[in-house]
Amino acid sequence: MYARIIATGSYLPARILTNRDLEAMVDTSDAWIVSRSGIRERHIADPGEETSDLATRAAERALAAAELGPADVDLIVVATTTPDMIFPSTACIVQDKLGVRQGAAFDVQAVCSGFVYALALADRMVASGAHRTALVIGAEIYSRILNWKDRTTCVLFGDGAGAVVVTRSDEAGILGSKLCADGSKRGILKVPGQVRNNAVYGDPTVHMDGQAVFKFAVSAMADVCLDTLAQAGLNASDVNWLVPHQANIRIIDATARKMDLPPERAIVTVDRHGNTSAASIPLALDVAVRDGRIQPGQIVQMVGVGGGFTWGSVLARW
Ligand code: ACO
Repeated sequence: MYARIIATGSYLPARILTNRDLEAMVDTSDAWIVSRSGIRERHIADPGEETSDLATRAAERALAAAELGPADVDLIVVATTTPDMIFPSTACIVQDKLGVRQGAAFDVQAVCSGFVYALALADRMVASGAHRTALVIGAEIYSRILNWKDRTTCVLFGDGAGAVVVTRSDEAGILGSKLCADGSKRGILKVPGQVRNNAVYGDPTVHMDGQAVFKFAVSAMADVCLDTLAQAGLNASDVNWLVPHQANIRIIDATARKMDLPPERAIVTVDRHGNTSAASIPLALDVAVRDGRIQPGQIVQMVGVGGGFTWGSVLARW
């Protein structure tokens, strides 16, 4: 028995924040942001929207594409670093908002690698026969954990959600995965805040050593892609589409170059979405499925990297 991705969905909040808008907020320029990151605009959630709302919308669209309903779902995994609250998990809130009344629901916290971690887990839970139909969702509202006075971080992130439906299959859909972590690098990307004794301790906003993250991300992403391909008996030349975490166009281009892949085989949405952390890979997947680039039978390699440090890849036949 195997697990297979049968449908995708996504949701972006209506409000768009452009680089020009940011020029009025911090000492930055459209030219600097585009040349350093490739980002032109990002979506920002309304004050009344929660991460579970974004996740629920994306999940509803994925279920509609799969022609399935709430009664079919028996597993919900939400990858997020910006949950609605400390507990219950965002996955349990999404389960209720979707009207799913059976199965398991839990969150995965692996920052920008969260979606590949969640998908690798769901693959095993479905392929083992324990669950039949999973919703795997990446959803984030990073705009609420940014310091909007810090130009080195606030220009890079955005809000959104993406979802996939994973079901049991007789044919191999998810071909392999590899997950990695190195906690000794936890200091280069962090939100060092905590709720303690009725107060927030530390700083609840994103801190990042951009250059250290950049160097680590490029080698980690290419290496884990090549390892996952080798495990599945495939080569980089077999990959029809690379769907990388959308942090920065220069990281995406460098990863493709290191893998010897033509840059046009990488799906890029960072220009329109910014870095949406755990949501970026399923958002990019949904764009490429709906615009017809990703076709049945093709090999799709997803790869994420993020705080922790964590990184990982999932390889799928569509
Ligand atoms: N606008 C204008 N100038 C800026 C801005 C800004 N928004 N931010 C920083 N600068 C300035 C700096 O202050 C610095 O000025 P100085 O030379 O006078 O000191 C100058 O630009 C260069 O700064 P660097 O940090 O050296 O710029 P760099 O070329 O490294 O680009 C960036 C910064 C884009 C963060 C880059 O390091 C990078 O892409 N890192 C990867 C990090 C990333 O993508 N993180 C996303 C989250 S991590 C993840 O998802 C895995």
